Amino acid sequence: MSPNLALNQQVAERRAAGEDILHLGFGESRLPAFEPLVRSLITGSARNAYGPVQGDAGTRAAVAGYFTRRRLPTGPDQVVVAPGSKPLLMALNLVLPGDVVIPRPAWNTYAPQAALAGRRAVPVPIPAEAGGVPDPAALRRTLDAERRAGRDPRTVILTLPDNPTGTLAPPSLIREICEIAERECLTVVSDEIYRDVVHDPATPFLSPCEVVPHRTVVTSGLSKSLALGGWRIGVARFPDDGPGRVLRDDVLSVASEVWSTLAAPMQEVTSYAFSEPPELRAHLAASARLHGAVARAVHGLLTEAGAVCRPPTGGFYVYPDFEPIRPVLAAKGVVDSPSLARHLLDSAGLAVLAGHLLGDDTGALRFKAATSMLYGDTPALQWEALRSEEPLTLPHVAAGLSRIQDGLRRLVS
Ligand SMILES: Cc1ncc(COP(=O)(O)O)c(C=O)c1O
Repeated sequence: MSPNLALNQQVAERRAAGEDILHLGFGESRLPAFEPLVRSLITGSARNAYGPVQGDAGTRAAVAGYFTRRRLPTGPDQVVVAPGSKPLLMALNLVLPGDVVIPRPAWNTYAPQAALAGRRAVPVPIPAEAGGVPDPAALRRTLDAERRAGRDPRTVILTLPDNPTGTLAPPSLIREICEIAERECLTVVSDEIYRDVVHDPATPFLSPCEVVPHRTVVTSGLSKSLALGGWRIGVARFPDDGPGRVLRDDVLSVASEVWSTLAAPMQEVTSYAFSEPPELRAHLAASARLHGAVARAVHGLLTEAGAVCRPPTGGFYVYPDFEPIRPVLAAKGVVDSPSLARHLLDSAGLAVLAGHLLGDDTGALRFKAATSMLYGDTPALQWEALRSEEPLTLPHVAAGLSRIQDGLRRLVS
């Protein structure tokens, strides 16, 4: 089972046994469904027929408009919609040739999907500035070594912004990776599911698709930006050329045998959401502000406790490294990523996802915490957090933050 889902189960069991646990280990946006989305779902609910595998023309036109407004001119034929971006990423794994380069650490599904598809995953460490991309120098070295060993790396996956580090790789890094991809003939799979969760709208976002459009497939969806994980809506954008059309058709042939089509009512939701009317944009902006405020607050607590941690700029995660206080932790028997996560759970009731479960070194003292879990357990509390000018001062958010602070103080005292 995927480690985040396994942790969920463990937390549920321990809670059922009476333990009080603050669950920071699951990558869910934790915001309620926006009312107009619910209304489009109701409107679409009478649509009970199978639709085209690729998605309805109107739905794909809305998604094409979304990409076009982001400096990626797109026609509806370049778009595929599906029940989540996870199946689209899996289909890409099944049809793309060769080995796949994955940043280390990365979202915990990339490597298992590659393995399921019979592809070798080649982890390359992320640079100091940001996650979601391999360090360019390490990428060059790894590709050379792989080729010398007779292996065949042909794809690189990027996550922009990144899960687990909650950071967005700057344009300069994207350009460097694209240069390497061009020289080495790599297909770039750019997972941009957190694109609309960049905290500050002024942060520059460069998609590899703007630099090497002929070799980039972009995936995205509504699970994160609009907290619709349970509705399962994902999209992919393919290059507008011969090889791009072949790749799209290969993905469609997998789709036709596995999921057939995105559920028809969800196509109604997709059309509405990707057309981005003003009320939806305002909702997205408020969500991104909340994600940023809470992630920065947790980042402050982690650095105060002695961790180094890249400042979060997108998504709803932080990824601290407790290496600077290794001796303090060693005195408590915390010597690696499994013991760090276990200690936080057992001694402070804080559930986090240990770094090694994301492909990181087991010996490192790192974990991922999903800060969105602090918005509240009920839609009413979550709406309150979303609408507040000062969400950190709300009693339930403040209580979660002080619980983290207490747990960290105990860890490092
Ligand atoms: C980086 C990343 N990509 C893709 C997904 C999958 O999202 P979905 O299948 O809900 O579209 C997730 C969800 O956790 C994610 O974090």
